Amino acid sequence: MSLASPIQEPKKSAIDWRSLRDDFPALHQIVHGHPLIYFDNAATTQKPRFVIEALRSFYERDNANVHRGVHELSNRASAAYEAARARAAQFIRAKSADEIVFTRGTTEAINLVAQSWGPKNLRPGDRILLTEMEHHSNIVPWQLLAERVGAQLIFLPISDDKGLLDLNRLDEWLTPQVKILAITHISNSLGTVNPVAELCRRARRIGAVTLIDAAQSAGHCPLDVQEIGCDFLAFSGHKMCGPTGIGVLYGRHELLEAMPPYQGGGDMISTVDFHRSTWNRVPHKFEAGTPHISGAVGLHAAMDYLDRIGRKNIAQRDHELAAYAYERLSRLSGLRLFGPHVGRAGLVSFLAADVHAHDLVTVADQRGIALRGGHHCNQPLMKQLGVEATARASFYFYNLEEEIDRFVDALREIQKFFSR
Ligand code: ALA
Repeated sequence: MSLASPIQEPKKSAIDWRSLRDDFPALHQIVHGHPLIYFDNAATTQKPRFVIEALRSFYERDNANVHRGVHELSNRASAAYEAARARAAQFIRAKSADEIVFTRGTTEAINLVAQSWGPKNLRPGDRILLTEMEHHSNIVPWQLLAERVGAQLIFLPISDDKGLLDLNRLDEWLTPQVKILAITHISNSLGTVNPVAELCRRARRIGAVTLIDAAQSAGHCPLDVQEIGCDFLAFSGHKMCGPTGIGVLYGRHELLEAMPPYQGGGDMISTVDFHRSTWNRVPHKFEAGTPHISGAVGLHAAMDYLDRIGRKNIAQRDHELAAYAYERLSRLSGLRLFGPHVGRAGLVSFLAADVHAHDLVTVADQRGIALRGGHHCNQPLMKQLGVEATARASFYFYNLEEEIDRFVDALREIQKFFSR
């Protein structure tokens, strides 16, 4: 199955998903008197013991700074940090570990590209092509850049309430003024899976550089940057069983090589004198200061954990859960569902008549159900949809159909209560 194109409806998966829940201590707790149902996985996922133990073992045995000392612990920490980089390259099939820059997460990775690649490559009148379903982290960095260089932002529209991009109209938007196309792989509000390989292929035809926001896809499906054909790709560890504060920017080597540093400080230099400095080689040129070493170690463990389950299996499980939830929710009256009917990623956004999303989420929390309500860092998209906010249930492989049943029952009660 190619995940660079819209995902086909899969067959029922054979893995014992229930037993995997034992790997996640946080799932087994009572919240407000009810067993926790954690449906806020698009915001952050829970962490398996395997990742927690990797962090503990690093701090108990190997903790030291990297690339500086020549003592045993520093060598171990450096080796672990660079092993995580090599693992990240393998995880997304980059050609080399030198194409992996560790960042704080997707947001910092996109800011890095906007602030380093941007001013060097954009001129007044150039265009930055985004889509209407982008997260704020794939809009605001480009606004800052556009203001700085006199470029213009344009947005590929979503076709209708199914939340799909209209590829028939793509060539109208891909004009020679477009210098970069930056798009999300999976929408965090709609659950749309964008055909990123097709989008990159068509952007390349006009010589545009491409960036994929893979925050919602990296932990949910196989990723192959060579197959997608993108120039940059960004993802966050914490949305894929890893720690917070660590993420990855993938950049094609020749682009990273030509980009100026993003931040100055230790480790990113080759030589420094009082008035001038020269830069370390890629990717270290982009990693100023002490990096998040334990974060990289935890991310390495998370990638190993996910690949042991199999990302194709996880993608299939996402689709099963989302399809089940969508089908159950579509039978409730007075509910508006957003996003594609089929082929959706593992989340469902909705609005109930007469109930504000925030009220719904607050009452669900009293029943132990963790949802998210609000604009989901998608204010422009919400405006396009004509709403202020939605409620969202976002799943991961450790969620169960019976949790969705309990959630639907709770929703029915909440609707009844607010309609009185
Ligand atoms: N981007 C994260 C979400 O969608 C925070 O919840």
